[in-house]
Amino acid sequence: MSEHSGHTAHNARVWNYWLGGKDHYAVDQQVGDQVTSMYPSIGQVARADREFLGRAVRHLAGEAGIRQFLDIGTGLPTAENTHEVAQRIAPDARVVYVDNDPIVLAHARALLTSSPEGATSYIDADAHDPDAILRSAADILDFERPVAVMLLGILNFILDTEEATAIVRRLVDAVPSGSYLVLTHPTLELGGEGNTEAMAFWNANAKPPITARTGAEIAAFFDGLDLIPPGLVSCSRWRADATPGHESLQVAQFGGVARKP
Ligand SMILES: C[S@@+](CC[C@H](N)C(=O)[O-])C[C@H]1O[C@@H](n2cnc3c(N)ncnc32)[C@H](O)[C@@H]1O
Repeated sequence: MSEHSGHTAHNARVWNYWLGGKDHYAVDQQVGDQVTSMYPSIGQVARADREFLGRAVRHLAGEAGIRQFLDIGTGLPTAENTHEVAQRIAPDARVVYVDNDPIVLAHARALLTSSPEGATSYIDADAHDPDAILRSAADILDFERPVAVMLLGILNFILDTEEATAIVRRLVDAVPSGSYLVLTHPTLELGGEGNTEAMAFWNANAKPPITARTGAEIAAFFDGLDLIPPGLVSCSRWRADATPGHESLQVAQFGGVARKP
C-alpha cells in the first residue's frame, strides 16, 4: 500500500488541516491534533506563514516590481495562493509552483487559474534536485529577468544544513541581480516551547521528517543577499500592520525577504 494512501500523515495535508482546509484524511487530522496538543500555537504558525506569504508577494509584485515567482514547497491550494496575490497587482505575473507530494499534484489544477496576461505552471519535483526544478521552470520563467525564489516552510524538510545551503545557493545563483529570496522556517527560538516534543512525535508518525533551526542558521541562508527591513523576524511580525499596543502575536517561525545585489 502506498504511503500516500491515507495511512501515513503527510505534511501537505496536515498543513491544510491546520489552515482549516478540507483536503486531508483522518490520519492527518489525528496527527495534526496530537501535534497541536503538544505545541498549541502550530495553527497560528500556519496562518501566520500564509499571511506572511501574502504580504511578501504584495510587496514584491507591487513596490519591488517583480513579475516572476518560483514557489517551491507550494502546499495544497488554499486561499490567496501566490499567483492570486501577485496577479491581482500585476496581471502579467508568471508563477511556477513546485511540490513533491502526489496529493498536491492531484489538486494542482486549482493553482493553474492564471490571468490571461500572466502564466502559472506546476512542477512535480523534489527540492533536493534544484537543477531539475530550474530546467523545468525555464519553460515559463525567463532567468535573464528577476525572479522571486520562495522557500516557505520547506527547508525544514531538508535535514542536512549543508545540503539546504547548497540548494539555496544553486537557486540564487540561477537568478539575476534584482531577484529575491523569500523564506520561512520553524525554530525553537521565539517561544517555540513544546515544538521539540511535537517535532519528535511528527518524525515518528508522519512524513517527511522535519527539523527546526536557529535564527543564526536561518540567517546564513541569506548570505550574500540584502535582507530588506525589518530583516529576519517572526513571520507574523514581518511588515504586519500593527497599531501600537496591538502588535501581532510572535510565532516560532522566522520569515525574511532579501534582494540579490
Ligand atoms: C509546511 S508546507 C508549506 C506550504 C506553503 N509553502 C506555505 O508556506 O503555506 C511544506 C510543503 O513542502 C512540501 N515538501 C516537503 N518536502 C519537499 C521536497 N523535498 N520537495 C518538494 N516539496 C516538498 C510538502 O509537500 C508541503 O506541501
